[in-house]
Formats: sequence, structure tokens, C-alpha cells
Amino acid sequence: MTKRVAVIGSGYVGTVVSACLAHIGHNVIGVESDNAKLELLRDGRAPFYERNLDQLLEAGRQAGRLGFTSDMALAMDESDLVFICVGTPSRPDGKADMSAMLEVAQAAAPHVKHPHTFINKSTVPIGSGRWLSSVIEDAAGDPRVTKLVRVASNPEFLREGTAVSDYLHPDRVVIGADDPASLDDIVELYQPVLDQSFPGSDQRGPVPLVKTDLMTAEMIKYAANAFLATKISFANEMARFCDLMGADIQTVTAGIGLDQRIGPRFLNAGLGWGGSCFTKDVLAMVTTAAEYGYQARLLEATLAINNDQRHLVVERLLRHLKNLRGARIALLGLSYKPGTDDLRDSPALDIATQVIEYGAFVSAYDPVVKALPAGLPVRIASDAYAAAEGADAVVVATEWPQFIDLDFARLRSAMKGELLFDGRNCLSPTIVGAAGLVYEGVGRRVPGSARRLAIDLRA
Ligand SMILES: NC(=O)c1ccc[n+]([C@@H]2O[C@H](COP(=O)([O-])OP(=O)(O)OC[C@H]3O[C@@H](n4cnc5c(N)ncnc54)[C@H](O)[C@@H]3O)[C@@H](O)[C@H]2O)c1
Repeated sequence: MTKRVAVIGSGYVGTVVSACLAHIGHNVIGVESDNAKLELLRDGRAPFYERNLDQLLEAGRQAGRLGFTSDMALAMDESDLVFICVGTPSRPDGKADMSAMLEVAQAAAPHVKHPHTFINKSTVPIGSGRWLSSVIEDAAGDPRVTKLVRVASNPEFLREGTAVSDYLHPDRVVIGADDPASLDDIVELYQPVLDQSFPGSDQRGPVPLVKTDLMTAEMIKYAANAFLATKISFANEMARFCDLMGADIQTVTAGIGLDQRIGPRFLNAGLGWGGSCFTKDVLAMVTTAAEYGYQARLLEATLAINNDQRHLVVERLLRHLKNLRGARIALLGLSYKPGTDDLRDSPALDIATQVIEYGAFVSAYDPVVKALPAGLPVRIASDAYAAAEGADAVVVATEWPQFIDLDFARLRSAMKGELLFDGRNCLSPTIVGAAGLVYEGVGRRVPGSARRLAIDLRA
């Protein structure tokens, strides 16, 4: 059944939610306060790079099912379900900054004239659903609004780079609400996703649905991110062991990942995670736990290990080059992962900042990122070879597939030095070594250096 939906906040999450809900047949109005973004969205274009998103935005616009506005009154008038997708970044004390959400609740409240279900998609501290409902009731200044407002949680698990596909073909849909009517309404909204009946769906079989109460849904999102972050830090800790012992982390993670209880994903050793979510969400858990008198030691270690991985590159550069003053370092990849232009908490920027502090000159190439935040003196090159021109060392900071097929002999001849630090363990040490480069990875054994474990990774 077609629903009338408002999506407040048209960033990485909100834009995907808007485009996908329109694609599965709903009437969607996206709300965005940033005028530059709004202009692009009205034009059917995403304000950031995400595969397949422009096509869906344009299709939704042409079908008359998708529009964008900055007018909250209009959005509230034309919707019954209101998704909140604004940012919840870390505050300096580590807790989630709820100011954008507060602003949205206060702006929407006076326009509640008929029943609305507010659905939290932003990742918010446990208990925020109840908080949101109180804020709206107070801001409305009319006790009758209490009867018109319901609040639910529908945490989002999409990954930037594959966001459209993740949203339309999710591993599960989680809906949390304390009243059955909201649950039923949101289940109906998601029915085309749950039974994969929307146009163009290529996935067979229904998508699992988790229906629960508000706080449990909020907790599921935090627990999922905490687990995934911990899995990455676990792989990085094992990589440190491999470096010390002379074993090969790629083979180790393949060997353990074949165990179905463990699984192969999120076990890539390297520079650690980046992006807007993992650090902020794990940090929010750690600080909230402390506030409630519990020390989340596992999560503290997860964060500390991730942070250490960013220093690893600098340690290795210092080990090889001894002194970085005046050295030229080329970074391949700037976004925090492939498939996106998102620079939030990107390890590449952290590494650039660190080596610049040591006096190095940094050049960089990224397939989609063409500009950096002001104040970071990094020369952006037109391709990987131009970035490597005269470099003492090249660091692969993002595992863009394009880097796997580089002509490493050409890269080597552009460079002054010979060190290639593969911060994502995405290259073949054999191919890189054959081009005359010195390969360094994270916990990897370089061929010829010792006996390799026998395991057929293609099995
Ligand atoms: N990015 C991800 O991969 C991802 C995945 C899952 C969950 N999340 C969570 O989703 C939430 C949003 O993340 P994001 O990456 O999309 O953030 P974002 O910063 O890209 O987007 C937020 C958008 O909200 C807009 N906005 C802020 N205040 C507004 C207001 N009062 N009215 C209208 N628009 C307003 C901003 O201009 C911005 O465009 C966060 O809580 C995040 O933790 C993000």
C-alpha cells in the first residue's frame, strides 16, 4: 500500500532512503536544510558520490513520487510517516550530539496536525525514542499532539559504496516501537522490500524482519556496529601477531573465515576502519557505559587498536626512510573506503596530517575525491602515476579496485624511492615486488621470505 513519507535530512542515509522508498512505490518528500544540497537533489542528482543513486533520484522525480524541500510545514502536511536521518556526530566528550535531532523535533512539532509516526533512522543513544516523543510534545505546546505522535526506531545498516543495494536487499529489517499500530504501519511500508516484490528486484526469498520494542531496536544498531568494529580490530591485532611471528594474516583470516561461526567478512587487516559511524558509535557506547558505572573494556580496546593502525604507516615509513623531513609521500586513495567520496574520519587524512607534521610533502590521487578540506597541504594529482612522481614512498590508503591493476613498473619509474606500503593488503606482493618495488603490507608475509601455509583459498 502506498504511504506518504517525509525523510528529514538528505545526507548519505536520507537521500538513499528517499530514493529507495520512492522506487518501491511510496510518495516521498525529502527535507534538507543545506541549500546547495537541496538544489542538486531537486535536479535529480545526489550531493555525494554513490553508485546507482542518481538514476533512482531521477526516476523518482520523473514518476512524480519524489520531491525535496526545505519547508517543514509542507513535508509534515504531505506525510504520515516521518523518517529522521540527520547526523549524530560525536561531541567532544564522546557522546552523540543530538542537536540536529532536537532542531528537527522542534521544527516539526508545530506542524503536527494529523497522526504522524516519527521513525528514527539516525543512530541515537538508547532511550532517544522516548526522548524524541517528549521533545515533540513539549515543542508543540498543545497537549492534543500527544495523541497524534508515535515514535519508532528503524536503524539503518547500509554501507556507503553499496548503499542502494544494501537498502533494497538488506540482510534484515529491524523495526522497534512500543505500540503495535506503528509496527504494523512500518512493516507495510517495507513489504515490497521484505518480500522482494519491488520492480527490478533480483533477490529471491523473503528478507528477515526483527520486530521489537524501541530501546531494543536502538541497541541492535549499536551492537551491530560494535561487533563489526571489534571484528576489524581483532583482525588487526592478529596481524600484529603475524608480523611478530612471521605468519601471513591473509591466510590466517582466510583460514578462520571459512569457519561458518566466524565468517570471512570484516576480517581485513590494514589501516582500520574510518567513516562517520564506527568510531562515533563505539565511543558513544563506551562513554554511556561509563556514565552508567560500567567500563566497556572490549570496546575501549577496539577503539585503541584502530587508532594504533593509523600510526603503523608512519612507523613503517620512519623505519624505511629514517627521516621524513622533505620526503615525498604519495597517497593512493583518500576516501575512507572505496565506492564513496566520504572523507569523514578517513585514515588517509590522518596519515597525511601525521607525515606533514614530520615535514613530509604529500601528493595524492583518488578516483572520486578531487578536493580536500582547506588547510591540509596535499597536492591532488590527476592519476596514481602523477601522484607517485618523485615519491620516496607510496601508501595505498583506500582499496579502490583501480589500484589492483596499476602498472607497477610505471609507478616505480615515476618514483624516486622504492617503498610501497599497502595499507589495505589489497595488492599482490609478488606483482609489486616483480616491478622492483619493496612491498610492505600489514601482517603479510612477502613471498620468498619464508614458508607459506598451504591453503587453497579458492576452495
Ligand atoms: N553514513 C552511513 O553509512 C550511515 C549508516 C547507517 C546509519 N547512519 C546514521 O545515520 C545518521 C545520518 O548519517 P549521514 O551519514 O546520512 O549524515 P549526513 O551528515 O550525511 O546527513 C545529515 C543531513 O541532515 C541535514 N540536516 C541537518 N539538520 C537538518 C534539519 N534541521 N532539517 C533538515 N535537514 C537537516 C544535513 O544538512 C545533512 O545533509 C547518523 O546518525 C548516522 O550515524 C549512517
